Amino acid sequence: MSPKDHASIISKVICMVGIFLLLINLSEQFKQEDLDDDDLGYLKTDPQYVYQLTNPENVDLYYNLDEKMLKEMYPNKDWSLTGIDKLSEEEKKENLEQVVSFINQQNKAYKEGRSSFYCGPTHLSILGDKKMAHRKGLIGQRRLFTGKFSYQSKIARFSDEYVKKILEEAGSPPDEFHTPTSMLTRARNQGHCGACVIFALVAAIETGFLTKNPLLNNSTLNLAEQTLLNCAFESQGDFGCKGAENLWSYLDFLIEEREGNLPLEHQHIYTQKQEKDDCPSLTVNCHPGVKVKDYVAVQNVGEKNLTALVAKHGAVLVGLNISTMQKSFQNYKGGIIDACSNVTLEADHAVTIVGYGATNGIKYWDVKNSWGDDWGENGYFKIKRGTNCGGIEETAIVPIISWSDCIKPNDDNTCKL
Ligand SMILES: *[C@@H]1O[C@H](CO)[C@@H](O)[C@H](O)[C@H]1NC(C)=O
Ligand SMILES: *[C@@H]1O[C@H](CO)[C@@H](O)[C@H](O)[C@H]1NC(C)=O
Ligand SMILES: *[C@@H]1O[C@H](CO)[C@@H](O)[C@H](O)[C@H]1NC(C)=O
Ligand SMILES: *[C@@H]1O[C@H](CO)[C@@H](O)[C@H](O)[C@H]1NC(C)=O
Ligand SMILES: *[C@@H]1O[C@H](CO)[C@@H](O)[C@H](O)[C@H]1NC(C)=O
Repeated sequence: MSPKDHASIISKVICMVGIFLLLINLSEQFKQEDLDDDDLGYLKTDPQYVYQLTNPENVDLYYNLDEKMLKEMYPNKDWSLTGIDKLSEEEKKENLEQVVSFINQQNKAYKEGRSSFYCGPTHLSILGDKKMAHRKGLIGQRRLFTGKFSYQSKIARFSDEYVKKILEEAGSPPDEFHTPTSMLTRARNQGHCGACVIFALVAAIETGFLTKNPLLNNSTLNLAEQTLLNCAFESQGDFGCKGAENLWSYLDFLIEEREGNLPLEHQHIYTQKQEKDDCPSLTVNCHPGVKVKDYVAVQNVGEKNLTALVAKHGAVLVGLNISTMQKSFQNYKGGIIDACSNVTLEADHAVTIVGYGATNGIKYWDVKNSWGDDWGENGYFKIKRGTNCGGIEETAIVPIISWSDCIKPNDDNTCKL
């Protein structure tokens, strides 16, 4: 038997087990147990994780930073993704001047131990505050739910119970947890389009897939953001590149209208633009074998409950308000962001928490952003934990992933079973 045949049999067996589990789940549709399609324990933390004690060589001054210098720092950058071409020479010059003085100030504070993160010129440094708005895209997320879920998720209504159940069955979450890198896909770049909610959601779904599907790995799994961007337009508070009104509306759409599946990136390539006429049919909706069945939404989640969700699922979608720490984010290079505002009313950005820990007595969240992997710490940032920094500990969403009825798409987009 060739290894290929072998793999195919394994696929079939896993698939049948998947369908079996799905049937069991369906038969218990209205029971709380429905949530727990597998064991209730926490994931194993990344055994290799080491906190890189941030000791940057370049916290020095950037006296003469100009566009040319910045571009030389990022020789492989596709600058068309930044929206820089829409700025005048004067604007770019002024933005960089402001940024240099901010970076110097922040790095001085870092060196003197007054702050725990450091900055440097990033590809976003040149944008200024106005253009930075396009890097986010959560419009007016309310701190509290209005109580109106368009998708009547039984889980959403029971979400407090869900957290309680995790804590009861799995015990207190570990003091430190890091989702294994093998379950984390590359940090993507939303570009000049306010699609942060889509990117943060897809990141959470991908990691959810990888915690469940041993046939895939982080280089083979890449789901298409563009499908949500194009197809869900204005359906439930989703406004394409202009942003989304809340963290869960794309999930509603995905579950209600797309059977919980997304195509792969190569089947629907991200263009940074919404193209309403280009919504793939459901037949292209093949997927790598696992689908989004439902989701948990927890409001006022708080630090401890959030750690439980992160350690259980590996990736949790959250919102935060970064407008009061915009420059810190724009120029962030490493360390733990502590420029927190605790008076946020509404979030304006969506990200995915994938771990937590503490160093030198400072507790942090490990967070995946969608500004490319050449921003921050390989596309990730750390932010202070336990103080609701920017409102990050307020609303948490976890997609619930279950096995589906096909394992992998064939070249012609049909499902291989
Ligand atoms: C965590 O969740 C439990 C169960 O829903 C709830 O009773 C508790 O108040 C929550 N803790 C915090 C700090 O919000
Ligand atoms: C993918 O997983 C491997 C380990 O299996 C890890 O070394 C690599 O960094 C991961 N890739 C990304 C982009 O995180
Ligand atoms: C990921 O999967 C692909 C295709 O199955 C395989 O070729 C590759 O070696 C895998 N990578 C890792 C790090 O396991
Ligand atoms: C917000 O932070 C300020 C300064 O650290 C503090 O004085 C204030 O009490 C905090 N407000 C709330 C609501 O926690
Ligand atoms: C973010 O918080 C600031 C300060 O509380 C507030 O002025 C601003 O309106 C918030 N941004 C959004 C998009 O809600």
